[in-house]
Amino acid sequence: MRHEAITGSTRARGSVRTLSQHEELPLLRDHLLRLDRTSRHDRFHGFMDDSFIERYAERCADDGTVIIAYFEDGVVRGAAELHPPQQSPDLIPEIAFSVEASVRRQGVGIILFRKLIAEARAKGYRNLRITTGANNQAMKALANKFGAHLTFSHGESTGIIDLTQHHQPEPATSAVLGAVDAARAIANLNRAYWNMLFRMYGWGRAA
Ligand SMILES: CC(C)(COP(=O)(O)OP(=O)(O)OC[C@H]1O[C@@H](n2cnc3c(N)ncnc32)[C@H](O)[C@@H]1OP(=O)(O)O)[C@@H](O)C(=O)NCCC(=O)NCCS
Repeated sequence: MRHEAITGSTRARGSVRTLSQHEELPLLRDHLLRLDRTSRHDRFHGFMDDSFIERYAERCADDGTVIIAYFEDGVVRGAAELHPPQQSPDLIPEIAFSVEASVRRQGVGIILFRKLIAEARAKGYRNLRITTGANNQAMKALANKFGAHLTFSHGESTGIIDLTQHHQPEPATSAVLGAVDAARAIANLNRAYWNMLFRMYGWGRAA
């Protein structure tokens, strides 16, 4: 498995690579279980118990989600998730990020985001959707660097990243969404994400 050293404007000393679909997904689970209470809340929009996280990681192993992991000393300390487009009614892949508190503010989020975008482009995706809590300043600032214009609704912020326009992590001025796209982003407000969570809990209803 090829590790890629992190270079550029980051203080992170680890490496990043994609996890293999089944064998390595326990590494994702263990990383997510290490997230503290606040981080779990931010990452899972309120779903915080261990059993939920275990089922979530299992599901990622089965549904084709691509996990890009940040390793330090053989331990996954950060992850970027690229969910398959088939999970969304509008076929826009959902993305999500988690970095353990011990390695934050070192550029890990940025490097994971870059790798995820490269992976998404290689798959031919044109757009990505990110959804986060309305008060999650860290994620909103990070997403903003990659051109996501997040729109607030129902306690959440959601936005589309246009991969056909995006080049580098820069302020969002280079890729601000038009009014139609913004309206569509609100209409699709995290539908796919909630559908996935509801299915995991067996509630079987659409968001
Ligand atoms: C959001 C998160 C992934 C950021 O990871 P990170 O590795 O600390 O991010 P980076 O060090 O790459 O920071 C990149 C940029 O994001 C912004 N940022 C990161 N943390 C921030 C914070 N606490 N407050 C404000 N802005 C912040 C900054 O613009 C930062 O750039 P800068 O350091 O040059 O100012 C991390 O805080 C996290 O995992 N949070 C809990 C889970 C979560 O909220 N996930 C989002 C749901 S999808």
